[in-house]
Amino acid sequence: MNVKLALLATLLAALVLFAACSPPTKDVAPERSPEMSMVETKHDEHPSENQSAAPGIPASVKTEHEAIHATLVEATRASGKIGEAAQALAAVLHPHFVREEEIALPPLGLLEPLAMNRTIPESSADQALKMSDTLKAELPKMLEEHKAIRAAVLKLGEVAKAEGNAKFAQLADDLALHAKNEEEVMYPAAILVGELLRMRRAG
Ligand SMILES: [Fe+2]
Ligand SMILES: [Fe+2]
Repeated sequence: MNVKLALLATLLAALVLFAACSPPTKDVAPERSPEMSMVETKHDEHPSENQSAAPGIPASVKTEHEAIHATLVEATRASGKIGEAAQALAAVLHPHFVREEEIALPPLGLLEPLAMNRTIPESSADQALKMSDTLKAELPKMLEEHKAIRAAVLKLGEVAKAEGNAKFAQLADDLALHAKNEEEVMYPAAILVGELLRMRRAG
C-alpha cells in the first residue's frame, strides 16, 4: 500500500513538474515557411498587429504596401513572360515586405507623437526601440535585398513595356520609387525614432 502511495505521489509530482516546465501553447505564432508564397499568404496578417502595445504602421504606409502587394499578386496570375517575371519578383519581395512590416515600419507610427511631444506608452516605446535597433543591425541585409528586388523590378518593367501592359509597367515604376523612398526616408526615419526615444529617456 505504502509503495503504491509512494508511486502515485511520484507520478503526480512528475506531472506537476512537467506542466510547470512546459511552455504555454496558446498564442504561439506558427512558424513561417520560407517557401510560403506571396500569392498564398494574406499580407495583412503580420505579427506587429498581434502585439497589443506595438506601435502601429502609419495607415498611409500600410495602404501603399497593400496596394503594391495586390497589383503584384494580379501580375503573378498573368500568363507568359509577365507572370513569370512577377512570380520571380514576388519570391524576393514577399519575405522582405514581411520583415519590414515587423521591424522597419511600425516605429514610424511614433513619428507624429514624437514630433508633437506627446506622451508615448512605455510598452510602445520599448517595442519601437527594439524594432529600431534591429532595423539598424539588419540594414545592410535589407539594402542587399533591395538590389535583388530592383533587378526583378527592372525585368518586370521590361516585359510589361514590351507587351504594352501599362498597369504592370506602372507597378514596376512604383516599386522602384517605393524602394528608393525607403532607403532615403523610411528606414532612416525608423532608426531616428529609436534614437529619439533613447534621448527622451536619458534626458
Ligand atoms: Fe516596402
Ligand atoms: Fe523595402
